[in-house]
Amino acid sequence: PRLYEMRDSLISWYRENRRKLPWREDPTPYHVWISEIMLQQTRVEAVKPYYARFLKALPTVKDLAEAGEDTLLKLWEGLGYYNRVRNMQKAAQQIMMDFDGQFPDHYEAILSLKGIGSYTAGAISAFAYGLPKAAVDGNVLRVLSRILGSREDIMKTSVKKQMEEKLEKVIPPKEASDFGQGLIELGALICLPNGEPKCRECPLQKWCSAYREGLQSEIPVRRKP
Ligand code: ADE
Repeated sequence: PRLYEMRDSLISWYRENRRKLPWREDPTPYHVWISEIMLQQTRVEAVKPYYARFLKALPTVKDLAEAGEDTLLKLWEGLGYYNRVRNMQKAAQQIMMDFDGQFPDHYEAILSLKGIGSYTAGAISAFAYGLPKAAVDGNVLRVLSRILGSREDIMKTSVKKQMEEKLEKVIPPKEASDFGQGLIELGALICLPNGEPKCRECPLQKWCSAYREGLQSEIPVRRKP
């Protein structure tokens, strides 16, 4: 019952407070994929113009698969970590060759694409297809560790895996997208790092262990650099 209340609070909060972001307008798997890869090392505001330009130049998986290297690098110029876009092109070629040009529509197949890890595969599954999959990145790990009062090192793969498993049990089947994006949005707008979370505005405050015990600046724990 506590869990059901929590997830309903989160989803209602998200529906009222979500930012209007370009990749939320028409969340096809291709759109979600491009945006999530760009957002991995780059801030939302900086991603917006790149995202628009990229989709204008390469509106489909096929266009990405066939793009010249110069085009790709130009579209990515300034974002850095160029392997991201090289891997994206390899994945697009995989989709053309192994999936008949159709973006795969289940988690394991999505995860098999070059450059797509559990976070991105979860995000595409949930945000584009509404599948009950978790998308756990650093921000979501911070939110979950605080709620649970967990002092485990969030840099550990095993901790992330545990969180994914726990989350997947509570994802509301018809609302996987708003639930998953709600967690991301909560991490971006409310459950901020560095001891500056806006707990007074948090829809999950009454269930949050870190809040109750005043441990917001101790949690999350990050040991490994
Ligand atoms: N950061 C990572 N993924 C995001 C998303 N889908 N929306 C906003 N910020 C994000």
